[in-house]
Amino acid sequence: MVNIAVLGYGTVGSGVVEVINTNPECISMKAGDEINIKYVLDLREFPGSPIENVLVHDFDTILNDDSVKIVVEVMGGVEPAYTFVKKSLLAGKHVCTSNKELVAKHGPELLTIAKEKNINFLFEASVGGGIPIIRPLTSSLTADEIIEISGILNGTTNFILSKMTDEGWEFEKALKTAQELGYAERNPEADIEGYDACRKIAILSSLAFNDNVDYEEIYTEGITKISAMDVAYAKKLNMAIKLLASSKKEDDNFYAMVAPFLVDEGNPLHAVNGVFNGIFVKGNVIGDIMFYGSGAGKLPTASAVVSDVVDCVKHINKNILILWNSKELPLTSIDEAVFRYFVRINGKKSSKLQDVMNAFGSVEEVIELEGAPDEFAVITDYTSEKNFKERAKKLDCIISRIRIK
Ligand code: HSE
Repeated sequence: MVNIAVLGYGTVGSGVVEVINTNPECISMKAGDEINIKYVLDLREFPGSPIENVLVHDFDTILNDDSVKIVVEVMGGVEPAYTFVKKSLLAGKHVCTSNKELVAKHGPELLTIAKEKNINFLFEASVGGGIPIIRPLTSSLTADEIIEISGILNGTTNFILSKMTDEGWEFEKALKTAQELGYAERNPEADIEGYDACRKIAILSSLAFNDNVDYEEIYTEGITKISAMDVAYAKKLNMAIKLLASSKKEDDNFYAMVAPFLVDEGNPLHAVNGVFNGIFVKGNVIGDIMFYGSGAGKLPTASAVVSDVVDCVKHINKNILILWNSKELPLTSIDEAVFRYFVRINGKKSSKLQDVMNAFGSVEEVIELEGAPDEFAVITDYTSEKNFKERAKKLDCIISRIRIK
């Protein structure tokens, strides 16, 4: 029997307990040993709940109990999670976490401690909820050099954008619905400003490129400026607006960014709707592969956490090598990245198109929408971000612009 302790009995923590209690035989069989929840740590009381008898309020009870071999950290946030995780690893306890803030900020250090102690620090649930993506990157795609990752890594914003597309709603109404359904937090900033997706792509990129991608260096743009009119144009173009988190290796340059993109209906990410996530990976040998599924939520996330617990039990005396050096990976400025841009112009086509042509040189397509007589939109040719910004400065009539995938 292997004793584990769960730090935090919130959504994911209660999910972990539920998953282990739902599938005890199947999980034990796959782990090769029985998994016993010896402690759950939380500041609150939970009278009448299944964890009533194992609830503790003091982390030291867990730390000082040598019979606890695996600590499951599902508290979220950097502190006190970082302190508890580091102490657990230094005490020789394996750690499994769903905490992307912790992993993005301290991943290399915690992996180094785990390696030195010949134990494991695993974080499958930190990206893509229930979708296996960390293990495929670190254990399956080992014959490949990864050259691109591009994905919908945030379920909340994908739900909001899907609602705006399906119902024609403005951003605020879709956000309110997401909050009412429990998909968005009361303070939704981390999701809608792209910070959550930024941390997730930093983790995936660090694992893909082996050196540390600092999430604070990643250009990040959220979805708060996307309007119902932008979405109406996207539909006319047979495209969808998606918040994409991407990273790419081109020759010796590494790019990473988070921003809304127009995605063509031929792109498999176009069909990823609602709270689902989709992650596209390109390897130099395997070519294109895609991962799709429940990117958030109590049980999908808990399923990924428990899969890490199973892996720890299977490797109780062995470190699973995860390459993530602390050396910083310098990112190339997105000013050098090249895109086509969708640009909405305030004014009638007859009076403004010539100014737009003069600014951008030429455009690939001009779009007009029924019901919007005082504006039109263009799609530019491929141009660097820097060039686009310089050219856009010459125009005082740009309503919005969205990059095209
Ligand atoms: N807020 C996150 C999302 C939860 O919406 O994807 C899962 O990390």
